[in-house]
Amino acid sequence: MKRILTGDRPTGPLHLGHYVGSLRNRVKLQDKYDTFIIVADVQALTTHWETPELLKQNVREVAIDNLAAGLDPEKASIFVQSMVPQIAELTVFFGLYTTVSRLRHNPTIKTEAKQYGFTDMTYGFLGYPVSQAADILFCRADLVPVGEDQLPHVEVTRFIARRFNELYGQVFPEPDALVSDVSRLAGLDGGAKMSKSLGNAIYLKDDPFEIGKKVMSAVTDPARIRKDDPGHPEICTIFSYHKAFNPGEVPEIEESCRKGAIGCVACKKNLTACLEEILAPIRERRKQFEAPGVVDDILRAGTERAVRSGAETMQMVREAMQTDYWKEG
Ligand code: TRP
Repeated sequence: MKRILTGDRPTGPLHLGHYVGSLRNRVKLQDKYDTFIIVADVQALTTHWETPELLKQNVREVAIDNLAAGLDPEKASIFVQSMVPQIAELTVFFGLYTTVSRLRHNPTIKTEAKQYGFTDMTYGFLGYPVSQAADILFCRADLVPVGEDQLPHVEVTRFIARRFNELYGQVFPEPDALVSDVSRLAGLDGGAKMSKSLGNAIYLKDDPFEIGKKVMSAVTDPARIRKDDPGHPEICTIFSYHKAFNPGEVPEIEESCRKGAIGCVACKKNLTACLEEILAPIRERRKQFEAPGVVDDILRAGTERAVRSGAETMQMVREAMQTDYWKEG
């Protein structure tokens, strides 16, 4: 069975952008792939190192979001990054031959550095793509389902795997990214990306009232003042959500919007109902994982499996790098 590795930073609850970018794919693929889901707490600390006290709750919350979305702990192993020591070990080895300029040119690093106002980047932040390569390669994953913004990191991972194999011997597959058909979801404010830090997100755990309120507040085509003004769906956030969550009705909505036959309020109500159809079962499933201890047991079991896989990989790495000093024979 081929292996998947993907996951999230525990910096807050997961939203619809995560859902369409990666979560939906993970759930679909868990039957066909051996699936590892990482809760990347060390990576969260590369931007939030001053507030480690937030991790405990956020790690559980992100794990629960994954489970509520339909990840089955019998099929997928959900684990905590910092509890898998092999990831830290590999990060050091991979750093030996990954140059600083390769990291400096990474477009996602550049965007995030700007977003967080990092002018003088820490070693850990600049190097997190190396650590992310270790997240992916410690279990020798073949496929990485991610949103578009993660493609530069998968590129770095492919370089790191390929170069390791050339330098020391074949250990790692060169993993492929799997980008979903909706790889980037706009924010409610019409911004390019839904994101917690921009405050323009609908969360998986939002209740129906909040969802309705957020959808009603979303930016549409500013040229539509009256409801029979002709609309421009190509610039409308709500229309982009219909494409992501209600593809069946898209041609009809597009036509009636352009003709001014459907108003924004009606269109938003329709979307709210579609979102509710997706989010209600997620909300329902969440309950069983919120019971005390449940998610901790799932994370512990997932982490144990991850550590076993990491130990196997490290044996191969040590042999390839000739650092298996005390091996018999
Ligand atoms: N960088 C990813 C994000 O911000 C989270 C992540 C960490 C990840 N390690 C990973 C994603 C490994 C895929 C594979 O969402």
